[in-house]
Amino acid sequence: MSVEGKPRRTTGWSGLGDHFPTLGRTINAHRLVYLDTAATAQKPEGVIAAEQEYYRSTNANVHRGIHTLAEEATAAYENCRHRVAGLISAPSAESVVITRNATAAINLVARGLEHTFKAGDEILLTEMEHHANLVPWIMLANRTGIRLRHIPITDEGLLDLDRMTQLLTPRTRLVSLVHVSNVLGTINPVREVAEAAHAAGARILVDAAQSVGHMPVSMEDLGVDMLVFSAHKCYGPMGLGFLAARPEILEEMEPMEGGGEMINEVFLDRATWAEPPLKFEAGTPNVAAAAAFPPALDLLEDLGLDAVRSHERELTDYALDRLGEIDGLVVFGPHDPSLRGGLVAFHDPEVHPHDMATLLDQAGVAVRAGHHCAQPLHRRLGVVATTRASFGVYSTNEDIDALIEAIRFARRYFQS
Ligand SMILES: Cc1ncc(COP(=O)(O)O)c(C=O)c1O
Repeated sequence: MSVEGKPRRTTGWSGLGDHFPTLGRTINAHRLVYLDTAATAQKPEGVIAAEQEYYRSTNANVHRGIHTLAEEATAAYENCRHRVAGLISAPSAESVVITRNATAAINLVARGLEHTFKAGDEILLTEMEHHANLVPWIMLANRTGIRLRHIPITDEGLLDLDRMTQLLTPRTRLVSLVHVSNVLGTINPVREVAEAAHAAGARILVDAAQSVGHMPVSMEDLGVDMLVFSAHKCYGPMGLGFLAARPEILEEMEPMEGGGEMINEVFLDRATWAEPPLKFEAGTPNVAAAAAFPPALDLLEDLGLDAVRSHERELTDYALDRLGEIDGLVVFGPHDPSLRGGLVAFHDPEVHPHDMATLLDQAGVAVRAGHHCAQPLHRRLGVVATTRASFGVYSTNEDIDALIEAIRFARRYFQS
């Protein structure tokens, strides 16, 4: 695929988009304006090259062989774990479990800690969760009889912390919440929630799928017990995610899947488990993806996560201003960009989100339309679906201008 890569950016990092091959594409005779990074981020050349290189020069299974290729594969896989531990200030590399994605990581916790819950226990979630942080707990509640409670949101899309205080009781065993909402953009005050959860004797898990790679995220600074995220949302490959947890939690968790790699000793009728994190990594993992993630982390390190955050904040500020110019458009989430991550969801009473996304695509603008795997939140917002524009390191003010122009076009189309 050709990169029609001429410097085209007047904001952000000049020429950075040229390192992302997909961004050189033309869609419907327009330059691709990719505003769907919250669904998955585009991949820089370094990531694509590393994945190819892994298959070209290494391609062996991990933790098994003692030949050179197997040792190199194992080193690449374990290097990924180390890099991730450093990225999020996890307690140690051993406290990072490599999974398929953030969803698998939350399911792992829900299954792994199942034996510690009893009927009457409560898990506190929020009204703004992605289905990935709702459905595994609903399934757990169905199996165990625990009760799920939810911190409501204010009309501005902030967590109602007064209600949280009332909902946290000695029955609360776990608080699990999203760091940055994938619809409202709200950056939740995780540290404050963690302090309240711990004071009530509960543990806390944070779904950092929309924050890692977009701002500095530290388990230590947030004071959380568990954190999950997916590599593909921070410029890394698909099929790779992480659960980082305090060591005693991983000790307490039961493995969800049995098989090779996760055992210590196996007899015909019984088995003992390996130590964490391998206890949770049954079978052959996605080594190629693990080998390809570090170049994405190199890029983020070179740019600096504080600078990445500032860039996305400025884009969000600009997008809120420009969307505000369109009469009747309803924009969800906090008005203050310092309280938001790099995404904006809106509803146009005149154009259904699916029609909007289709017409925007005609103009080369890729956005997401629908409930964004957050149906309860959309019910709370009083809409069935929204249109979402989300930003990454390669996004520019010009991308947002193109979005606005395309929205105006969609409006004219439906009015004519
Ligand atoms: C807030 C949030 N949590 C969890 C997920 C699930 O991520 P994945 O599909 O990579 O498991 C997403 C994906 O959109 C998300 O936005």
